[in-house]
Amino acid sequence: MCGIIARVGDGDALGEILGGLRNLEYRGYDSAGVALRTEDGIDVYKREGETDALVDAIGDRTPDGTVGIGHTRWSTHGAPSDANAHPHTDDEGRVAVVHNGIIKNHESLRRELRADGHTFTSETDTEVVPHLVSRELAAGADPETAFRRAVDRIEGSYALAMVVADEDAVYATRSGSPLVLGLGSAANYLASDVPAFLEFTDRVVYVEDDEVVVLDGAGYRISDPDGETVERAPETVEWTAGDAQKGVYNHFMRKEIDEQPVCLRQTVDGRLDVEGRADGGEGGGGTPVLDALPPGELSGIANVVFVACGTSYHAAMYGCVLLKRLGIPATAMPANEFAHDPMPVGDETLVVAVTQSGETADTLASLRAADASPARTLAVTNVVGSTAARMADDAVFIRAGPEIGVAATKTFSSQVATLAMLAERLADDGAGVGATTPGGAAVSEAAGWSASLASLPDLVETVVEDGGAARLAEAYADAEAYFFIGRGTGYPVALEGALKFKEITYEHAEGFAAGELKHGPLALVTPATVVVAVFTGRNDDVTLHNVREAQSRGAPVLGVGPASSTAARDAVDEYLEVPDADPELVGVLANVHLQLLAYHAAAIRDRAIDKPRNLAKSVTVE
Ligand code: AGP
Repeated sequence: MCGIIARVGDGDALGEILGGLRNLEYRGYDSAGVALRTEDGIDVYKREGETDALVDAIGDRTPDGTVGIGHTRWSTHGAPSDANAHPHTDDEGRVAVVHNGIIKNHESLRRELRADGHTFTSETDTEVVPHLVSRELAAGADPETAFRRAVDRIEGSYALAMVVADEDAVYATRSGSPLVLGLGSAANYLASDVPAFLEFTDRVVYVEDDEVVVLDGAGYRISDPDGETVERAPETVEWTAGDAQKGVYNHFMRKEIDEQPVCLRQTVDGRLDVEGRADGGEGGGGTPVLDALPPGELSGIANVVFVACGTSYHAAMYGCVLLKRLGIPATAMPANEFAHDPMPVGDETLVVAVTQSGETADTLASLRAADASPARTLAVTNVVGSTAARMADDAVFIRAGPEIGVAATKTFSSQVATLAMLAERLADDGAGVGATTPGGAAVSEAAGWSASLASLPDLVETVVEDGGAARLAEAYADAEAYFFIGRGTGYPVALEGALKFKEITYEHAEGFAAGELKHGPLALVTPATVVVAVFTGRNDDVTLHNVREAQSRGAPVLGVGPASSTAARDAVDEYLEVPDADPELVGVLANVHLQLLAYHAAAIRDRAIDKPRNLAKSVTVE
């Protein structure tokens, strides 16, 4: 995590870097800092807390400078503090560095540098870098050579940017952490993510691992580890600056919940062949069209393993249920489990990494593990140019637009819609043929979800406009704990509802498979705990048994489910309804209510909804 930005060009660097840091705060907000190249050398300002605290610290001192670097931190080595805030410098303050990632061998480097007379002022792993560079400069190396030699000494994951006194330039590199170059008309930028400079340019070049980038008055140069120039054509990102701004909203999370109908339309746009299914039209053959996976492409796949974290893991679990409905053996594993304890995979296995950011270290570690096997890999991600998209054999993009709130919302819906289309593509290619359900029947035939997916954006719109969740958040604000239960596709939605709730309210919330409640968690259920039950229209009668088990212990039960599920509505204390839809997609609608429930419950408690404590959006460390 952590966000880095660098800027070289005409005009004021400080304002642009501070603006960029605000747009990167979703990556971490423990401290913020900038280093500017000025006439006198390098000016460093840094402060514990968010960018606003840094702005206060700078106060009226508005240093001039057209070249600078900035950092917003999610702490790994060393507590959040002014001293541990980046940029870090060498003893003389002639070299300043910002870093996203972890330097594994920092302790041995620190010992070596101390023995050489270097002193350290922070507990961070990063601080070794400016000292390594300064030692090379002292030995006579030019800044680029000094930077390369320093980078050669470090092990771990990093995106690094450096300024040195007397040079109007920035030097940067990456290995395992994201870094993207933005090409503006008045300035060029480097950052962990595009929103950092989207206000100034949408022309980008994605930097690859081990490449070195130099930004200076002449423009930019990318070179490989041997110093050979790398030519790579710029790409234009489809996101707009407005996508990454709050606009009229108080919180990004609320904006992103409301954006779901639009995002879902983008997700399915041009990919569904609603009419073609019956007559098997050309191109998609009636099935969803996913550019990266033309018809027939997945015919050799016998089973699917999803790897993902957090909300993306819940979307992956949802995808798993959809695949199972189509008779395709599928399992979902937390990415960090797969990375270090993988399940057996073969050349008929498709390993699908589901990741909004495409930069989650655990998920990338899974992809690396899968790469070392005969399995085929696929990334399902929101970020074009992300590491996951480039690492996997193929990539399918969920097209949700930038998600800034730390709590993932719109990307869950778009992930599930994408996985539903992928499930149909797999089924129509005959993936999993021969598999049978426990009942013995072969079920590998397409489900015809295209029509349902086409209407999903409109249905989500009605839920977004419903005020029911706000009322319930208020009415049940005093509960001691919140338990979410569901089965089938309702199970991952229950897990996701609980994750969202705990993440932004800081209340005790847990999700369970509805049938598991009686196997232990029921001991926690009292009149002071709230049970939220997700109904999908499939096997709801069984879920109602579990509801009654909770009710007989005095717990109030809030139901979320289809409008026509009268049995569910009648059984529970309160009911948030969603429009009737294909039972396999009702979960997406129910989840919107749960997002709103968490949002309003957090707002009542005055929580930092977009930046919950201890969390960061993009977790780029294992
Ligand atoms: C949930 O609200 C979180 N933002 C978190 O669980 C997130 O889904 C997880 O860290 C995975 O991120 P990714 O989708 O970018 O890989």
